Amino acid sequence: MKKSVFITGALVFLISISGCYYDNKTEMYGTAVCDTANPTYTAIIQPMINQNCIGCHGSSSPSGGVSLTTYAQVIVVATKGNLEGTMNQSGGYALMPPGGKLSACKLNQMAKWIRNGAPQ
Ligand code: HEC
Repeated sequence: MKKSVFITGALVFLISISGCYYDNKTEMYGTAVCDTANPTYTAIIQPMINQNCIGCHGSSSPSGGVSLTTYAQVIVVATKGNLEGTMNQSGGYALMPPGGKLSACKLNQMAKWIRNGAPQ
């Protein structure tokens, strides 16, 4: 009887400490590591697009005729409003990327970047 109580206790303890283990900064600190202070194209936006959009919006036959390979091309859609519209699935735009919305952090960085005048 006592033994099983001890084993149950040990198991509960092990499960609870394993729940405190994170190897992912974002998971551990949540939005705290989301840097929205001063996003620039070079530091934040270009890597985000290269990771999530360029597969379909590269330079050769881009989807929807929208190429997102250069700063000049990205600010065109940023100022037209369809960049944020697609990423937030607002204003009747189809969601981009079609596979699922990017994280709240990335959407905030994009919004801030556009509000700041899309600095390079
Ligand atoms: C799996 C392919 C795919 C990915 C990945 C993708 N797109 Fe698209 N995108 C499309 C297609 C197809 C269209 C044109 C048809 C449509 O509007 O649904 C399009 C259209 C667009 C348009 C024009 C919308 C309009 O109506 O004016 C914008 C802006 C856009 N995408 C931005 C992005 C951004 C930003 C990302 C990354 C965050 C992204 N896309 C990722 C396939 C993709």
